[in-house]
Amino acid sequence: MKTIVFGGAFDPPHLEHRRLTSFCCKALGAERIVIVPTYLPPHKSGGFLSFEHRARLVELAFEGVVDNVVVDTIEYDRANEGYEHNYSSDVLPLLKAKYGDIVYLIGGDSLEYFDTWHKPEEIVKVCPIAVVGRKGYDDIAGKIACLKSKFGGEFIPIDFEGRAVASSTIKAQLLLGNKPEDISQNVYEYIIANRLADKYTPWLEKLKSYQSAELYNHTENVVLRAVHLNSVHNLKQNYNKVFESALLHDNAKERPSLDGLNIPDDSIGTPVMHQFLGAEKAIRDFGVTDKDVFDAIRVHTTACKDMSILQKLIYTADSTSYDRQYHPIPDLRMIGDEDFDEGFKAVLKFTYDKLVKKGNPIYPLTLEAVEHYLK
Ligand SMILES: [Fe+2]
Ligand SMILES: [Fe+2]
Repeated sequence: MKTIVFGGAFDPPHLEHRRLTSFCCKALGAERIVIVPTYLPPHKSGGFLSFEHRARLVELAFEGVVDNVVVDTIEYDRANEGYEHNYSSDVLPLLKAKYGDIVYLIGGDSLEYFDTWHKPEEIVKVCPIAVVGRKGYDDIAGKIACLKSKFGGEFIPIDFEGRAVASSTIKAQLLLGNKPEDISQNVYEYIIANRLADKYTPWLEKLKSYQSAELYNHTENVVLRAVHLNSVHNLKQNYNKVFESALLHDNAKERPSLDGLNIPDDSIGTPVMHQFLGAEKAIRDFGVTDKDVFDAIRVHTTACKDMSILQKLIYTADSTSYDRQYHPIPDLRMIGDEDFDEGFKAVLKFTYDKLVKKGNPIYPLTLEAVEHYLK
């Protein structure tokens, strides 16, 4: 029986995974899918859902794509047996022995890095590799030709008009307490029933009591923008740090009372005060203990010199959040989508120019940032 093997983190599995495998089964005439959730040891995992939950969610998510769907926990089982790695070159032969006529399905983005995988010359010997074309990774035929001449093997290009759906965005929507449109109803219900996404519920409730509906909407959009930029540019910033600093960046914007908190005198009563107060109130009211998080909040309006990636990320996400539709923000958003650093600099330049044009006083940290990054 022709079988497609499809691995991934599935954290969580989404509708695009389903559409893609369904399409490939038809294209390849496969009657069975074997889904292999990846296992990461807890100390390495930056993940959201546990292996056990992901394995169950995968069953739900792929239900009915073909009659025969198998979830294979081989990676988890091997980890329990003491294997440190689950390289495809190790796991695929085992799956081949178990399922017979297999085709290994990978995304076009994985193909980009195929020659950096562990023993690619071994992988191609095991079974044909089906490669799904994805937006932004057009030259699949060229890449395949190159890999074939290097390693041999059989690569099958699959022309699938996929949509860009990111697990990181779905995760953020779930953590914000919203239903993502890109996951199936049964997956969503399982997550809710098992309370897998309520980590931040107390924060969300508190924040809603501090913010107008409009500001809260902005906050959600900054979170979505920040996790998107982190993922699309592979910035490798810790997911929780990104989520928390974006979520709390404007927590003090509509509650300017100083309450004896320590903030710079020259910021008091100015538009940038809320960044300093926001950092202090994140610590006091939300129990934030992570310096990276409150430091990102602390410069999200002014920027400064020598910013960390997380600081730049929150600064850029704030100014290019999806709720800002007025000129020239969509253009800045596009620049940031193409190149993270150029996006950051474009935002800094736009903000500075705007202040100069209006004749507004410019906070010293902003002048430092302009000197540091734009001169
Ligand atoms: Fe702000
Ligand atoms: Fe903001």
